[in-house]
Amino acid sequence: MTLALNLNDLSHVVEADRAHVWHHLSQHKQYETVDPRVFVEGKGLRLWDAKGKEYIDAVSGAVWTVNVGYGRESIANAIRDQLVKLNYYAGAAGTVPGALFAEKLITKMPGLTRVYYSNSGSEANEKVYKMVRQIAHRHHKGKKWKILYRERDYHGTTIGALATSGQTQRAEQYGPYPDGFVMVPHCLEYRKQWDVENYGERAADAIEEVILREGPDTIGCLVLEPVTAGGGVIVPPEGYWPRVMEICRKYDILLHIDEVVCGLGRTGTWFGYQHYGVEPDFVTMAKGVASGYAAISCTVTSERVFEMFKDDPADTMSYFRDISTFGGCTSGPVAALENMRIIEDEGLLENTTRMGEHCLNNLRGLMERHKVVGDVRGKGLFLGAELVTDRATKEPMDEKRVQAVVADCLAQGVIIGATNRSVPGLNNTLCLSPALIVTADDIDRITDAIDGALTRVFA
Ligand SMILES: Cc1ncc(COP(=O)(O)O)c(C=O)c1O
Repeated sequence: MTLALNLNDLSHVVEADRAHVWHHLSQHKQYETVDPRVFVEGKGLRLWDAKGKEYIDAVSGAVWTVNVGYGRESIANAIRDQLVKLNYYAGAAGTVPGALFAEKLITKMPGLTRVYYSNSGSEANEKVYKMVRQIAHRHHKGKKWKILYRERDYHGTTIGALATSGQTQRAEQYGPYPDGFVMVPHCLEYRKQWDVENYGERAADAIEEVILREGPDTIGCLVLEPVTAGGGVIVPPEGYWPRVMEICRKYDILLHIDEVVCGLGRTGTWFGYQHYGVEPDFVTMAKGVASGYAAISCTVTSERVFEMFKDDPADTMSYFRDISTFGGCTSGPVAALENMRIIEDEGLLENTTRMGEHCLNNLRGLMERHKVVGDVRGKGLFLGAELVTDRATKEPMDEKRVQAVVADCLAQGVIIGATNRSVPGLNNTLCLSPALIVTADDIDRITDAIDGALTRVFA
């Protein structure tokens, strides 16, 4: 039996959604009086909802994911062709797209060699945590089992990943958490914690202080976002990364870079860490890997890490005893291959750098016109504007008023984001992350909408 669906009238769909879908990140009481928003179609940067309203999406599917834009037939065709050939086999064996995407990905990541597939950013990070724990058991006599994470960073939604949430509101009410995850201070210079000239080095030194407090022989790994996303779009200050690497080497601590947001071009290089000459031991990625056309995440490691799991084949417990069922879906890597081809053939890294600068300039213009804009920052097409009530004291703007700016833009047909339920009292940064195909006209339309919204909300 086929479902009779009138695409001109999707009111039934909206009612079905209201009745049965439990939305992510949503307080559902609101849907007793307003309709849930249901999206129907997308093309490029544009989206249409069930009521036919058109939007320009400045946040790539709300959570910086759809890097190559909506409606890519070539990705859909590649997935379709692969699915009819072979849709799945568990990752204990190989598949054609799995092998080819790993080979291509590794060409973009000098120094790294191995790709472990799973299906979400949280899961990719959990794989690292498990690897670090197993390395501790097998190679450090049970020591070096702790994992350091940074205040304001986020690494996912599962209990293990939430144990490394530097966004304390995300983790609240879901504890208790497992032992061995330790927070280090954030590095946002706009909200200074030290009054020094070389802020980047000082912020990295704060990591060393935690290592010395905990005992270097207890610490196995440090996980960092290259540019912090949901914690407020934080670009680490100069001097930060070289010092971080020095500290990791000094204390034999593995460096894990979480590229779930920055990965695959978002900041104008394939990966965010590549702006800074960082040499990681682990890199995780998810969202932009296949731009949301299929669920795929990767945990990429160095050969040195990989070798630690094959040194003793006689020990039946020595290898990485982990599986991700859907890590064996072929739709992920085949979509990822085509996604990468599009980024290369359409010059999207270059476009990201150029359009990112244009967008940052427009945001600087907004800062001149609106005194509530306390700081603008970002890298490539990953940008934020922090709102304050007073530029001198940097008193953060109330979250409700920040959300009013987002709502005003939405009413104008422009979808922007803002940090929310993330860092207590500091959910005050507007976020922009349009698809990497964005044009200067699109960006002007987006920043004009913010201009209008700031004028109305703070009149
Ligand atoms: C930096 C970072 N890491 C990990 C994750 C978790 O990814 P997922 O939602 O795919 O589990 C996110 C999600 O927003 C993220 O922003």
